[in-house]
Parts: sequence; C-alpha cells; structure tokens
Amino acid sequence: MPYPRERPRRLRGSPAMRRLVGETTLDPHHLVLPMFVREGAVEPRPVPSMPGVVQHSAESVRKAAVEAVEAGVGGLMLFAIPENKDAEGSGGYDPDGALNVAIRDVVSEVGNATVVMADLCLDEFTDHGHCGVLTPDGAVDNDATLEAYRRMAVAQAEAGAHVVGPSGMMDGQVGAVRDALDGAGHAGVAILAYAVKYASAFYGPFRDAVESTLTGDRRTYQQDPANAFEALREVRLDVEEGADMVMVKPALSYLDVVTRIREAVDVPVAAYQVSGEYAMIEAAAANGWIDRERAVEESLVSIRRAGADMILTYWAVEVARRL
Ligand code: PBG
Repeated sequence: MPYPRERPRRLRGSPAMRRLVGETTLDPHHLVLPMFVREGAVEPRPVPSMPGVVQHSAESVRKAAVEAVEAGVGGLMLFAIPENKDAEGSGGYDPDGALNVAIRDVVSEVGNATVVMADLCLDEFTDHGHCGVLTPDGAVDNDATLEAYRRMAVAQAEAGAHVVGPSGMMDGQVGAVRDALDGAGHAGVAILAYAVKYASAFYGPFRDAVESTLTGDRRTYQQDPANAFEALREVRLDVEEGADMVMVKPALSYLDVVTRIREAVDVPVAAYQVSGEYAMIEAAAANGWIDRERAVEESLVSIRRAGADMILTYWAVEVARRL
C-alpha cells in the first residue's frame, strides 16, 4: 500500500494549527469605508440596490464616521450627492459644494483619529454624468478636465482631506493634482490614485447610490476588462506623476491585476471591492443561497491574499467589529 509521504492535512487538523500556519491577515486597519453624503438630506436614506448602505445626512455621516473609527477601520472615503449639477461639475470645486462641506464636517468630527479621503471626480457633479467636461461634440475633454481636477483637489485639501482620490481616469490627472496641491501649499496631502479602473458592470449599484445621470458608458476613459499590461502602464504613469498609493478597481474580477501591480510598485496598493461585488453577495445571502458572513470574509481575505494592502469595502465597519 503506497502511503502518501507528504500529508498537508497535518497542518489543517485543528483551529489552533490552522491559525499558526495562516498566511494572510485581515485586520480592521486594512479596511476603508466608502460613505455617501446627500446634500440637503434630513435623515439617512437607504440605497435599494445596496442593502445596509445609506445616503447620509450631514448629521448621520458624523455619527457613522465616529462608529467606523471606533470599530478601528483604517480610513474613510467620502462621496457626495449634490442637489444641483451643471455641465462643468462646478459643485466639485465650490468650497461650499456638497463634498467639500462633508469633508469639513467629517474632518472636524474624526479628523485626528483616522484618514479622511475624498473621491476626486466630476461625475457626481455633472448633469451629463461623465467624469469630465465635454467638448462641443460630446467627447470627454481630457485637458480641460484636468483644470477642474486641479481646482477640486485644492478645494478638498482646503476642506481638510488627508488624501484625495482622483478616480476619473484622465491622462495626467495625478501629475496635475500633485502640481495643484503643491502650488497651493498642500504638499502634505497624499494622493491615492485610482490608477487601474476598469469600465465595469459592477459599478451598477453605486450609480444608484450617487443618483448618476450617465447615459452611455465610460469606455473612452476607463479600461477594457480584457487588458492587464495596460494596467501596468497606468500604474507606472501614476507613480511617476506622484501617486502615493495606487488602487485597482473592481477587486474580485481583477485579482490577477492586483497581484501583478503589487509586484511592480513600491507604494501601497489598494483594491476597491465595488458596489456590484457587495450587492451580489448580499442578494445571494438574502435568498439563503450562501452563508453571508463567510462569503464576505472569504472575499476580503482573497483580495488581501492577491496582494492588496488595503481594501475599500462597504462592509468595513461590520467586518472590523467582528475581527
Ligand atoms: C467615480 C467612481 C465610481 C465608483 C467610485 N468612484 C463609479 C464609476 O466610475 O461609475 C464606483 C464604486 C462602486 O461601484 O462601489 N467617481
């Protein structure tokens, strides 16, 4: 009888043994909570396609930020839904615009205890829903958009953001934002570049959450899901332009990209477990088809195992509490 000489099962025999040989850790500080604030809201409003996620009011976001910090999350990423939008997305750089007010509120509440980050993109502020301003024939105008991003970066820094997250996938956005920040005396504000952002169907529920007005798609600026070398190029450019951290988005369908990027750069790598990833697990669990807590944790551990140093996830607080 030929017995197996190697028996990997020895190291799986008890919870203590499995813990001893566990390769990947998941700690609260690895998790960043994305939060939505709705201008003018008097109470939090549920987002139907993201059970458990709300559009916050000015008051509820402060409270939720405190709870997140108490749970030990590594940071907060803020988004806002403005009452008014225009073709230029001017609410993004108006110091009294919805997001800049939210940054100020959250920083005054928890700014010393956590890292406050802000999404730096025009899509929530434009009436056409694109991430940039348009040319007369309706194309997204890269370089005119960079001017808007520069102003938005300074407004966010002035509101107190510790980190800005340019997410519009315009060429040169990181360099433009770094230059604007430095020129305005904000050399200490860091950039988390959404360096690798795919044109993904998994953003569907997010567009509900921010009441996106987009018709059409973002394929002229977000990446083709088929491409990974292109991701390396995007990351190289962003690091050269001054990104302090880089992000891959979405996460679960792009774990190979996370791994390749982790090997290619010497800055922290983030992955964004996006709204559709959240909604899929929540929906399957609501139907009783999967074990919700195990699926949530497995998805997060997988993203860490692939190489992400930090994960943006709508489950950040719940998981941080459990850990
Ligand atoms: C753009 C932005 C998007 C997300 C974060 N920042 C959406 C998009 O490109 O349409 C998606 C996040 C998610 O799906 O959870 N400002």
